[in-house]
Parts: sequence; structure tokens; C-alpha cells
Amino acid sequence: MILHPHLSVNSQGHLTIGGMDTVELAREFGTPAYILDENVIRQNMRTYLSAAEKNFGKGALPLFASKSLCFKEIYKIAAEEGLGIDCVSGGELFTAKSAGFPADRIYFHGNNKTDKDISDAMDMGVGRIVVDNTDELYAVNAEAMRRGTKQGILLRITPGIDPHTHKAVVTGSVDSKFGSAIETGQAMEIVKKAIACDGVELYGLHCHIGSQIFDIYPFSDAADIMVRFIAEIKKECNFSIRELNLGGGLGVRYTENDPHIDYAQAISDIAKVVTGFCNQNGIEMPQVRLEPGRSIVAAAGITLYTVGSVKQIPGFKNYISVDGGMPDNPRYALYQSRYTALIANRADAPRDFRATLAGRCCESGDLLGEDMDIQHAERGDILAVLVTGAYNYSMASNYNRIPRPPVILVKDGNARVAVRRETYDDLIRCDV
Ligand code: LLP
Repeated sequence: MILHPHLSVNSQGHLTIGGMDTVELAREFGTPAYILDENVIRQNMRTYLSAAEKNFGKGALPLFASKSLCFKEIYKIAAEEGLGIDCVSGGELFTAKSAGFPADRIYFHGNNKTDKDISDAMDMGVGRIVVDNTDELYAVNAEAMRRGTKQGILLRITPGIDPHTHKAVVTGSVDSKFGSAIETGQAMEIVKKAIACDGVELYGLHCHIGSQIFDIYPFSDAADIMVRFIAEIKKECNFSIRELNLGGGLGVRYTENDPHIDYAQAISDIAKVVTGFCNQNGIEMPQVRLEPGRSIVAAAGITLYTVGSVKQIPGFKNYISVDGGMPDNPRYALYQSRYTALIANRADAPRDFRATLAGRCCESGDLLGEDMDIQHAERGDILAVLVTGAYNYSMASNYNRIPRPPVILVKDGNARVAVRRETYDDLIRCDV
């Protein structure tokens, strides 16, 4: 096992994913390519669903945060596994709709939904719009009134938690661009406004404190703050909150220095806070929603590249250049996220070469990692970057007019294309 149980090395010394030889996958599908182990994704979805139901009761539902990985097939998998989904844009809604995802299980997020987003979401019949702010509340209300309907909503609340992760992915603190803060009194104000709107039905509250968080206490603190706020709403407005969405954010092991997280245990720990408070204070237990993205798909994925050159600068550093880079994985350039990389065709050799992993863009910041311990490499080797299932394909760009890699799903010894490789014709499709 390398980092995660579905990654291993076979008798030829090749890296395997879900039992399949990555060197053969690279030969069959070309490089760069994203490879995802479908069984790992399904297993993670099942873990969330069963832990949510066991600890929060039958009405609990995990929503897959599809910003982490978005294409039609992933929505079909989420639908088959009985999850809901979190969508954050018209494009994600459209993709989910094209995949036939049940609209009543869609939660539509975003801090600045356009009028078109709102009306598209209502055309589709999305279950909940997660309203970020007062302007949006009134826009949703007006559109629903115009249609003579009532739109189910949650209100996005900022509980004021700083979970100590990278500052670009913190979302639950008071000065965040998302939601209304409890601390400033604005959360209670928007609750009252929503209750007074005839075009919306306020089901509940949502919070999301950040991403790639390993400690459990920021989640249980946030849950505690949210249930106390629910009690306050009951007291001040005599209004029952029926749904509590606690967001996503549990961390994933990217390198050997990262801890393992037992997601079922984490959910049980968070549930104790919610159920304990509700029982002690005679509050009806709200139906809980969880919104995991990364912890469902990150570990399932790897990216395969071909090495183009190895450059050793005496007294400075070593570069390994591959046929991808920041267009398929911008996370090191954006957040200095650390990854584990291997030479897939010599995965059993010692990782005794320290190198900077460079992409092929005309930009010196186009790196996939620095000071990485990897096997000695040469042109033509297959290089694998591990744990790329989340926020890689979904954040990919065509910078330098580089076509996006395909997404290949492997399952029980078979590999199938979920997203085909982009062609140069795809790149000029919108050019007039
Ligand atoms: N729900 C909401 C409202 C969110 O904003 C997010 C992530 C999630 C759920 C899912 O969080 P997860 O379980 O995946 O941590 N691009 C960054 C991550 C940004 C996360 C944004 N929101 C990265 O590559 O690290």
C-alpha cells in the first residue's frame, strides 16, 4: 500500500490503482491522464451515508460537493449511491441535469447567484437554494412569487470558526465573503427576513468552515454554535429549523506526513455535539446534511504523466519536467499543496532523488511540487502524482492552449473513459 489501500506495487515494480497496472493504463489512454478508482469513490459515499444515518438518524443525507469533481458520470454515481449533491454554478446544475440527477436532492450554493442562475435552478426544481445574503433572499423570493411558487431555502451562516487551514480555503470566519455572521447579529436579521418572505420556505441553516481540516474540534465547535443559534431562533421567533447543513471540509492524506482520518468516527464525534445539545435543551433534532467533496474523491485519483526531461543544476536543484502541470493541477501554484509523486514504472525503487516537479507551461510558477523525494527519473518514464481526485480536473484550465486530460474510471479490472481527452478542435470551438 502506498498512502491509501487501493494504491500498490505489482510484481513488475509498477504502481497499481485498484489492482490495475498504471503503466499499461498510460499506454492505453496516453498521458497526462486522470485515473480514478470508482470503487473507492463509491465506498466513501457509502461510509458517509451509513455514518450519517447511524449517528444523525434516518433523514440525514450527505451531499457530494461536486465542485471537487464534476462530470456527468460522477453525478450518476452519486445518484446510484443515494447521495444528494451540492452545486455551485449554472454549469454544475446543467451537468447534473444532463446526467439525470434527481433535482430535489440538489442544494444550490454560491455567494453571488445571478438572476439567470436563480431562474434556471427553479426551472429545474432544485430542492434547496442555499441563500447567501439579503439581496439574494429578495431575488429568490421575487422570482418564486412571480411564478406563484414557494422555493425551499437554507440560509448560509458564518459561525465564526477559524479552522487553521490554508487561508484561501477558510470560509466560516466572520469576515468571510460567504453568508451572514451570527456574531454581528446579521444572521438573526436574515432569518427574520426569510421567515417574513412569502415566496420562500425556510427549511434551515448551512455553514461550511473550510477545507482540508484534520482536527475534529473546529467541526464540533461549529456544530455547537449552530445548534445554539437554532435554539435562539426558536426562542426569539418561535420558528423551528428543520435542516442543519454542516458543510464539508474533512482532510485527506496527501503525503506520509498527513494523518489518517476515520470519517465514520469523525461524523460520530460531530453528531454527539448536535444530538447532545438538542436532547438537553428539548430541541427537535434537525435533519442533518453533510457536504463532503475532497474526502469522497481525492484519494481515489492519481494523475499519470510522461517525463520529458531531467535537469540537474549542480549546487542548486533538480528538475523533472512532465507533459502536464498547472493546467491540470493548479493546487501547488495556488496553495503550495504538497503531493506524493512516484515513477510508476519503477515504483519499488528507493525514492532517493530530490526534485522539483515542473510542468510544461511558459511560466516558472508552473510546478507540481518542490523538494519532492522520488525515484531517479529519465525521459519516457511514467510519473504518477497521487491523491489528485479532488480539485484537479474541476480546476483544470486550458492555459497555454493545452488540452485537458481525459478522466478514466477504473473498477474491478476494467477501465472506461468518463471524460475524453480534449482535442485541438475543442480548443477553438468557441473562437469566432
Ligand atoms: N460545501 C461548501 C459550501 C463548500 O464551499 C465546499 C468547498 C465544500 C462543501 C466541500 O469541501 P471539501 O469537503 O471538499 O473540503 N480548491 C480548494 C478547495 C476549495 C473548497 C471550497 N469549498 C483546494 O483545491 O484545496
